[in-house]
Amino acid sequence: MENQRILILDFGGQYSLLIARRIRECHVYCELRPYQTSMEEILAFHPIGIILTGGPESVLASGSPRMNPAVFSLGVPVLGICYGFQLMARELGGRVIRGEAEYGKASARYDSGCPLFRELPEAGDVWMSHWDSVDSLPDGFFPAARTDACPVAAMYDPGRKLYGTQFHPEVSHTEYGTQIIRNFLYEICGAVGDWTMTDYKRRIIREIREKVGDGQALLALSGGVDSSVCAALLSEAIGTRLACVFVDHGLLRKDEGDEVEAAFSGRNLRFIRINARERFLKRLGGVTEPEQKRKIIGEEFIRVFEEESKRLGAVEYLAQGTIYPDAVESGTGGAAVIKSHHNVGGLPDTIAFREILEPLRLLFKDEVRQLGRELGLPEPLVSRQPFPGPGLAIRILGEVTEEKLECLRMADFIFRDEMAKANPEHQASQYFAVLTNLRSVGVMGDSRTYDNAVALRAVTTDDFMTATWTRIPFATLDRISTRIVNEVPGVNRVLYDITSKPPATVEYE
Ligand code: XMP
Repeated sequence: MENQRILILDFGGQYSLLIARRIRECHVYCELRPYQTSMEEILAFHPIGIILTGGPESVLASGSPRMNPAVFSLGVPVLGICYGFQLMARELGGRVIRGEAEYGKASARYDSGCPLFRELPEAGDVWMSHWDSVDSLPDGFFPAARTDACPVAAMYDPGRKLYGTQFHPEVSHTEYGTQIIRNFLYEICGAVGDWTMTDYKRRIIREIREKVGDGQALLALSGGVDSSVCAALLSEAIGTRLACVFVDHGLLRKDEGDEVEAAFSGRNLRFIRINARERFLKRLGGVTEPEQKRKIIGEEFIRVFEEESKRLGAVEYLAQGTIYPDAVESGTGGAAVIKSHHNVGGLPDTIAFREILEPLRLLFKDEVRQLGRELGLPEPLVSRQPFPGPGLAIRILGEVTEEKLECLRMADFIFRDEMAKANPEHQASQYFAVLTNLRSVGVMGDSRTYDNAVALRAVTTDDFMTATWTRIPFATLDRISTRIVNEVPGVNRVLYDITSKPPATVEYE
């Protein structure tokens, strides 16, 4: 049976994807589509509710984005957010004016008679980001919330089931935002909460089996969350007709290659671990320029993967762990293209595949992790931090050598070990050690040393686009530093990086 579905018409707002995440968190399936989506497609989607997102334009500007206004008379509940709210007001005969900009947190007072705000306190902080304001309501609408600067911060027409908020309920700064979205879904659209990973797993496995039939599939497995979950899912669907190629480039963290192998060795699939350490190190010899290092690693990876694919032969399907944000960031039509996604790092042209399988294409990262747990993947694998494809090579400043890799692996392991023991409240979103190219004088026992400095990097972030440095307690930093200088030969100094992104990036190269 199909899930209930919410359709999000995207006007290019910076929080559009966040709306989708919030809805999924409430166990309701949804998809983002461009605002130009045709009425036929909207009807074919069978939404139980429609959301109009925010967007960068002004509804007052000529040629600003509009969707088919028939959306308002389908009898399907609609929630307009920010730009979507103003568009709803204007299309239905209300008045929108250009006012003072309101940006940031504001305190809103809610009308508890409006189903959107049912069971909410009378007031709460909301996140505002707008120039235009709704000045007079369309016929049939009631005001439902206000802030000091914005007399109409929400409106509703209960008869036609049309709702709008000037503020962004999807942003975490809006105090009861998830509750507001939940109310829209459950109180207004009649959602039952039928979106679960158990159910998705069952369905997607059936679909993969129907599609692949007796065919063979190949997956480039990095050991990251997405490709690992993809491997577990496909192995459950097609068993040994799946071959997973894990290229061990020798730039992995301590024990990482063995951990990935152990996680997959008990599974019903062909796990192929290719030891390519020597060839990677050889190609990196003498190279110090960061971009050149990245390029060499990317190219070499494709070469190894390509050689292995040729050796295996007769593989019709190439599987990739593309997830929903990757697909959306490649452009839904409404939103700006942020990056064009390619998961295997540029597919080898010379190998013909009948089709590409992307069974995680509709899932968010947290859903992928949940699916991983459903599939019985070990927790450390499922809850892994991001790890860059070029691995430790971009965490060793300057030339990469086996000795430096060994040194960094030890320091990084100590950092991770101590962080795991520390209070989880202080856990960062991502943390790792970096081997700098700084040598400095120290003293060990009674002797002078002239050794390397290790930098510790820890960031707290939701999306890795921006990040703040994590306030790791001094006591934890102290333990990490003491252990590193004592246990890692060649390191006599430990630095803690207190730069946020921007202006720094998370990685060093
Ligand atoms: P930056 O350094 O750009 O990192 O602030 C943001 C996030 O992306 C990860 N990262 C990469 N991941 N291949 C990847 O798969 C890469 O080449 C790469 N470079 C950076 C980084 O670890 C952080 O989580």
